[in-house]
Formats: sequence, C-alpha cells, structure tokens
Amino acid sequence: MSTVLTHIGELVTNDPARDGLLGLVADAAVVVEGGRVAWVGPSDDAPAADQQYDVGGRAVLPGFVDSHSHLVFAGDRAQEFAARMTGEPYAAGGIRTTVAATRAATDEQLTSHVAHLVQEMARQGTTTLEIKSGYGLTVHDEARSLAVARQFTDETTFLGAHVVPADTDPAAYVDLVTGPMLAAAAPHARWIDVFCEEGAFDADQARAILTAGAVAGLRGRLHANQLTYGAGVRVAAELGLVAVDHCTYLADADVDALRESGTIATLLPGVEFSTRHPYPDARRLLDAGVRVAIASDCNPGSCFTSSMSFCVALAVREMGMSPAEAVHAATAGGAAALDRDDVGVLAPGRRADLTVLDAPSHVHLAYRPGVPLVRGVWQGGRPLA
Ligand code: NIG
Ligand code: FE
Repeated sequence: MSTVLTHIGELVTNDPARDGLLGLVADAAVVVEGGRVAWVGPSDDAPAADQQYDVGGRAVLPGFVDSHSHLVFAGDRAQEFAARMTGEPYAAGGIRTTVAATRAATDEQLTSHVAHLVQEMARQGTTTLEIKSGYGLTVHDEARSLAVARQFTDETTFLGAHVVPADTDPAAYVDLVTGPMLAAAAPHARWIDVFCEEGAFDADQARAILTAGAVAGLRGRLHANQLTYGAGVRVAAELGLVAVDHCTYLADADVDALRESGTIATLLPGVEFSTRHPYPDARRLLDAGVRVAIASDCNPGSCFTSSMSFCVALAVREMGMSPAEAVHAATAGGAAALDRDDVGVLAPGRRADLTVLDAPSHVHLAYRPGVPLVRGVWQGGRPLA
C-alpha cells in the first residue's frame, strides 16, 4: 500500500543532495510505502499511489529526533521549580528526590507514566526518542528502568552514574556501576552515559565508567559542562564520543576539542529556561565548525518540557541560531547524535516519519512560540491516531 502526500507548501527534507541546509522543496509531494519514503519531488510530478492525502499547502518536516530524555521516573518536583523561580539555585542533589519516588513505584506505574509522556511527545511531532535510566541507582532499579524504556524505544541509555546515592561511598558506587549494575543494564541498553559535573562524577570516574561500558558493548555519551566549566567535554572529545550533552559552560579549548573530534554538541535549552542558567552559545559552536543538535532533556528536575518546538523557539531566540539551523538541529542533528541514518532526513529509503505543521513554513516554529502547530504526525508511514 502506497500513499502520496500532495500539495506540501514547504517540505523540509534535510537532504544534503538538495539546496540549502534544510533541502527545501516548494509545492512538494512525498510518496510513502512500506514504512519508508519512496519518492520526494514537486507535487506536479508525483507518481500515482494507492492513496492520496492532500496537505493543503502546509509545511512538512522530518519528525523531531529527541536524542536526550529521562522519562523513567515517578513523582514530580514542581515545588523545587517554584523555589528556583524565587531564587533557589538548581543543584544536582535534587535527583535523589526523584530516585526515592522512582524506587517506590511499581513497574506498571513506571510503564504507564512513560507511555503517557511518549504519547505527549509524539503528538508534538517527536518520532524518534532516546530514554535514559538514572533514577533507580540500584542494580534492580536501573535494570527495570531500562526494561521499561525498551518497550518504547531502541535508543535506551544506562545512566547509573547519574548521582551517587545518599549514604554511599563514591568509589564503591563506581565499582557497582561498572560491575553488577552494568551487567544487569547492558542487555536493555544501547548507550551508557555519565553525569560529569561537580556534585556528580569527575572526569576520571567518567572515563572509567565509559570504558567499562564499551567493554560491555555500550556506546558512550556524556552529560557535561551543564552547571560549571570542567573537563567533561574534553573527555567526550578525547574518547571520540558521538555526542556530548548540555555544553553550557565552554572554554575555547572545549570548542576546539569538539571541532577536532567531530563530537556533536547536544544543546538542551529547556534546561536553561528552567534553571535560569545562561543559555549555551550555539552561534559560537556553529561558527567554530562544531556540529550541534537540540534535544528536550525531558526530566522532572532540570527541565520538564516534552516539546521540541519549544526548544527550537528557545534556540532561535536565545542561542543565536537561525530558524533553519534550529530545525535542522532538532531533526537531522538529533539523528546524527544517535548515529542514525534512517531518520532525520526525508529522502527515498529513509523512515517515513514526518510532521505536518499548521503553518506554511518551518520558521513558524520559532515565530509562533507556544502555539500547538503540529497538525499531523506520520510514524513509519502511518498517521498517528
Ligand atoms: O540532564 N544533569 C543531569 N540530569 C538531568 C537532571 C536530572 C534531575 O534534576 O532530575 C539533566 O539535566
Ligand atoms: Fe539529561
């Protein structure tokens, strides 16, 4: 069964074979078959298909690829947010509040909560999603968090090294993370991550944890330079990681290291919105030749948004990105940060994941912030109900 979407006012393909960063096609059509894109081109030239769907001049873009989220948790920290907005600083230690609530939740409660958030994201145009553990911090709770996440995505990340649990010796905890916890987590995970930051794990601990993860077959990513300057970004570059996330406080040497290693800087502007830290300087990174992705970081502490559109708008308004750069970073950028070449681009052979906007162009995502512009979402060639 093939379907042709016709009269797409503006199609964002992100196809490097086409002109410009976004590879825009005006008055376009897309043919979808077997869950994949079969054809892309001008509406007038579209081949016949079994079904036709007229988009009515709206803009279509690849589904958002949200490469960083922490959806497996229980409880919320709205009071902590409210206190921040009246002057309290954000601290990594708040993670422990969510750890207690998550440990107390049943598997069913965690699963239905993740399902709810995944649906919330899908309705807003996110069609590929990474989910981390990190609110269990015991062998059992990390493994079950990842087993829950795996029901929703293949892009699961073991983040046992989120924070050292209360009343635990840090060295003993690193031994646990790199030993029995890693062994229990690895079957459910593709990636391993460490929160490399003051109050969490230092550079040597991060290196040890990522190295153990690599031996267990997991690929590395890092949370780094979120709250302070530090060595995390350089560790990511030195280890040749595909992406390092946050990158809020960067020295010139960090920017140079990212450019040289090709490690993608994943920027999470919802965090700065919600912690009142300064926004990361995307312009500086892009001008230096560093690749940039944008993700939500959806989590109960530092940023409880599931909206990639909101993150795009923040990136444009606060981080010096053009609307085209921000949309690219939230789609093709996220795909690159997950080392995926089947999503983030609309071209023959790629997954038919696309978002129809109730707007004539991608610019409206930043131009009309806070407006629910996602009118339809197609995932694997099928419209979401
Ligand atoms: O990406 N930085 C570490 N982890 C999360 C926040 C977790 C929390 O505060 O619960 C983040 O911002
Ligand atoms: Fe995070």
